[in-house]
Amino acid sequence: MLRDRSHPTGVDRRHFLSVGASSAAVTMLAPNAQAQRNADARDARDPLDLTLSINGRDHRLSLDPRTTLLDAAREHLGLTGTKKGCDQGQCGACTLLVDGRRVLSCLTLAASVEGAAITTIEGLSQNGELHPMQQAFIDHDAFQCGYCTPGQIMSAVACVQEGHASDDAQIREYMSGNLCRCAAYPNIVAAVREAAAKMRDI
Ligand code: FES
Ligand code: FES
Repeated sequence: MLRDRSHPTGVDRRHFLSVGASSAAVTMLAPNAQAQRNADARDARDPLDLTLSINGRDHRLSLDPRTTLLDAAREHLGLTGTKKGCDQGQCGACTLLVDGRRVLSCLTLAASVEGAAITTIEGLSQNGELHPMQQAFIDHDAFQCGYCTPGQIMSAVACVQEGHASDDAQIREYMSGNLCRCAAYPNIVAAVREAAAKMRDI
């Protein structure tokens, strides 16, 4: 008569050995998987070669893949007109244009805008002449300390081009992402209103 070799728990020796072998295989693979993860992590920190087209000029850069567009412009290219305020997407000081659309450069990876046409405050004037929005901010004293001003102006240019500057209420609403700690808001609205009229005539 065959003896029942099953363990009282229901796990027989054959099952025990097969599970043990599988576990050993997993244990042997685990260090390789970890090594791969470590290699991937190292790859993620390796410098990334890319070209950014800013204000009509191509700039070749080698950046940490985590570099924001704001830091690429300010720290790597010396384009310090774009300001770092909160660095968290809350103040609008870092606003610039990517393919004509306003973006918060502190929340935008430089690598994600390769191939796009980027415009900073330094690229707004043409042939030595201030952009109508820049001139209007001066004419209306639309700043005090000036720290928010480049972001305000870039946002205002896009606001007009989007068709969101038809009256003061609309200007206030569509410029609400740009904070001014000096509270120059009435003058900013007046500047955008005047520049909008001029930009429509261009
Ligand atoms: S610095 Fe980007 S939103 Fe404040
Ligand atoms: S002018 Fe000072 S923060 Fe706007």
